[in-house]
Amino acid sequence: MCGIVGYVGPRDCSDVLVSALQKLEYRGYDSAGIAVFDENDAITTVKTEGKLQNLKDKLQIVGKPNGHVGIGHTRWATHGEPSDVNSHPHSGARVTIVHNGIIENYQEIKSFLVGKGREFLSETDTEVVAQLLDFYYDGNPIATIDKVMGEVVGSFALGIMFKDFPDRVFAVRRESPLIVGVADGEAFIASDVPAILQYTKDYYLLEHDEIATLTNDGVSFVDKYLNPIEKELKTADWDQEAAEKGGYPHFMIKEINEQPEAIRTTIMPRIKDNLPNLEECGITLEMLKGFKSVTIVACGTAMHAGMVGKYVIEDLARIPVNVDIASEFRYRNPIVGDGDLVIIISQSGETADSLAALRLAKQKGAKILAIVNAKGSSIAREADMLIYTLAGPEIAVASTKAYITQISVMYLFAFELALANETISVAECQQLTESLQKMPEAVKYVIDNTNEVCKKIGSKLITADSLLYIGRGLDYALSMEGSLKLKEVSYIHSESYAAGELKHGTISLIEDGMPVIAVATQTDLIEKTISNVVEVKSRGANVILVCTEACEQKMKEGIANYKVVIPNTHELLMPITAVVPLQILAYYTAIHKGNDPDQPRNLAKSVTVE
Ligand code: AGP
Repeated sequence: MCGIVGYVGPRDCSDVLVSALQKLEYRGYDSAGIAVFDENDAITTVKTEGKLQNLKDKLQIVGKPNGHVGIGHTRWATHGEPSDVNSHPHSGARVTIVHNGIIENYQEIKSFLVGKGREFLSETDTEVVAQLLDFYYDGNPIATIDKVMGEVVGSFALGIMFKDFPDRVFAVRRESPLIVGVADGEAFIASDVPAILQYTKDYYLLEHDEIATLTNDGVSFVDKYLNPIEKELKTADWDQEAAEKGGYPHFMIKEINEQPEAIRTTIMPRIKDNLPNLEECGITLEMLKGFKSVTIVACGTAMHAGMVGKYVIEDLARIPVNVDIASEFRYRNPIVGDGDLVIIISQSGETADSLAALRLAKQKGAKILAIVNAKGSSIAREADMLIYTLAGPEIAVASTKAYITQISVMYLFAFELALANETISVAECQQLTESLQKMPEAVKYVIDNTNEVCKKIGSKLITADSLLYIGRGLDYALSMEGSLKLKEVSYIHSESYAAGELKHGTISLIEDGMPVIAVATQTDLIEKTISNVVEVKSRGANVILVCTEACEQKMKEGIANYKVVIPNTHELLMPITAVVPLQILAYYTAIHKGNDPDQPRNLAKSVTVE
């Protein structure tokens, strides 16, 4: 999604903006631009389609605007194709803005402005806001912003410059995220914390409809009634190093390698005496008693983490669990209410559909537990109960360490829920928790020992047009994530199927040489899975088996073309280690195909629009 930055201070503004935008590249974008007050206090805008390198090249050619106040943007196209003219910043005669989000009533406003004789250069909803600000501008920026806020409908974060105020940047948001960073004599705006970490760790979270004014004397805020407000200064606990590649060629492989530490950091503070203890998150055993049902709502990878959660919660806590895609849940009049628990899982905490699902479930009277990575994000703030995954910044678009920490939290939560509802004994819970504590080491072992074989298999997959992932039970939940990971970064079509469902249609797709990735980690289901593997193999599939040592022993020699064997751990916990080769395989397939795994085409890291 779009990235916004802004700067006021003594540094070279163009350099700061480009460098901060670079830290937001992971969000996904297709064009970039900056606008800076130059030495004559005129606003100079430079923008272009394509990656930041194109912007840097253009700045070299046309000359970098010299100044100390400015705004910048990376655009992920929604209204209007990626092009120079549709790139941000956009301007009216006296106003220049950058925008993240969607203005839902922009057509209506545009017609109104066209009726007043205004002309538009671009197809964007953003230019409509720039022109509306200009239309209402009466010399008072805050009052003008407030007036426009009353008329626009939708989600937005805006960085705004008024021609008459060359010493300041204004910022406002509704739904879309925006932070305001501060350091001695300088101030920043950004869509996300990593953009400013190179300059400061101190920031304010801008709340809905608050307006910030940034000057080099400091930052001031007004609330939606335009009353001045004091806000709590936050300090980021991520440092710059954590948001950089640290010697790895890509963030994706760096983040895969960070998984053992991410699990450890996430689970250890929530375990006491070999038992889960969520008091650190303000969650007591008492609070978890007596839920009638659990509904897990999320998108993409986070939803797949929910699928693992379903198996584990149902197995241990014996409470029925539904897993729902947030974009479906929010429009379906879902059956949740008093006595039900709704779990929202999100790395960014800003996914528009997941946030809307949270609000709907809350309004219907359900209790909301959020499992979120980004501190202080909207989903984190609006939930009744909150467990942070402590994965640190996840920069690659393809989620890896966020997923592994999400499922680690799902396990801890399921153990605690089962304990609260007395469906497992303390001794059983201790045994499970002990096994969970061994997972960081187990994941490290799997990373170290499957890298080479996955690299080799990845090189064989690049010619495939399509492939299947199959598994049963937890292995099915896991193959959904394996399939998504491969699709995202390799651009090879794949489907995940419950292995037992193949015969009901999908097996007709199997033809000579089609790769089928079979996940087999559950010994109680292994005989069934073997039958399915034999069925596809005998129809010409190239079988890649990802299995445990125990499952491998049950397989006949020659059943698979390639095998990735991982050590046995507690079978309920197997998704934690078994996901690793699936991630590494996706990574190397992308690399062998020459794709950039960190910024896959058409994708954005944080999906803050519907
Ligand atoms: C997965 O690799 C993707 N990045 C995507 O499916 C992601 O999990 C989804 O968009 C949800 O994002 P969230 O966790 O930030 O809510």
